[in-house]
Amino acid sequence: MTTSPHVTASGSLLLGGDLPVSRMGFGAMKLPMRDWQGPACDPEQSRAVLRRAVELGIDHIDTAWFYFFRDVFANTLIREALYPYPENLVIATKVGPGREPDGTWMNPAGPAELREAVHRNLRELGVDRLDLVYLRRMPSQSSISAPFEALAAMREEGLIRHLGVSNVSAAQLAEAEAIAPVVAVQNKFSVLDTEHGDGMLADCEARGIGFVPFFPLGGTGVPDHPALRRVAERHGATRAQVMLAWLLAVSPAVLAIPGTSSPAHLDENVAAASLRLGPEDLAELAALAQESAAISQGR
Ligand SMILES: NC(=O)c1ccc[n+]([C@@H]2O[C@H](COP(=O)([O-])OP(=O)(O)OC[C@H]3O[C@@H](n4cnc5c(N)ncnc54)[C@H](OP(=O)(O)O)[C@@H]3O)[C@@H](O)[C@H]2O)c1
Repeated sequence: MTTSPHVTASGSLLLGGDLPVSRMGFGAMKLPMRDWQGPACDPEQSRAVLRRAVELGIDHIDTAWFYFFRDVFANTLIREALYPYPENLVIATKVGPGREPDGTWMNPAGPAELREAVHRNLRELGVDRLDLVYLRRMPSQSSISAPFEALAAMREEGLIRHLGVSNVSAAQLAEAEAIAPVVAVQNKFSVLDTEHGDGMLADCEARGIGFVPFFPLGGTGVPDHPALRRVAERHGATRAQVMLAWLLAVSPAVLAIPGTSSPAHLDENVAAASLRLGPEDLAELAALAQESAAISQGR
């Protein structure tokens, strides 16, 4: 693709009726490290990626206080690179699970722990109010009512503008919506992994809720598959661009948040906003999605 990259081509979505965001955003999880166990990324390069993201029009960054490696935190990188923030920049963050300094996961979902996590995000990002906070459900949690009520109270206090939920089922989304408005759902979803998105995506689209797929590129490196390669070749694009263009094409409710600490990959991902897939491409990718779903159901 030769188009000079800009997110405008992805179109936009109004989160919660008052927060406009481009449908091509950015995920900050991989800025401090390549994986939870490392290796570390170069903080200067990560800050440069964030600045370039804003230059390319990105107005929606997804982060969390627990995205850190040793003493480098994604939230801090965002503040160092971008503060004072552009007026239109929406920073979404998460609470729910936590990590000890040694990286061990825990589930601090009590009201006091959630409050501390909200204040921690406020402090690290250097803001008075968080634009969007997701309650991220841990696999062991069935009901999310109590923690979501705690977040709804902090929204009433003015610490949070909008609420979202992550890693949830339809029943858990309904639980949350009975307590306070939910403006976005963040579940794992890609053309190669539709298990946690298919029904939810249709539901979100019908109800004006943003659907924010995590691991849009598979999480750990772009998967190789003949169908992805064929579509990419037809457009002179990359497999990553095809995966992102598919997400944007599959529903107007999708907000993409591909993550990278590479300036070249950032440009490549943003350029995917201009890639328009045709009926032949979409049919081939729908077959790939079905094939992947069948494999995961058979597991
Ligand atoms: N709610 C949740 O539970 C949850 C869980 C996971 C993630 N998330 C959010 O979702 C966002 C996206 O997920 P993710 O960043 O983990 O995974 P991802 O976007 O699916 O993939 C990121 C990986 O793909 C590589 N990559 C990115 N663009 C590429 C390109 N054009 N060509 C080749 N490789 C490329 C990156 O490496 P390079 O750095 O080398 O480009 C990185 O290793 C996260 O940043 C985070 O904000 C949320």
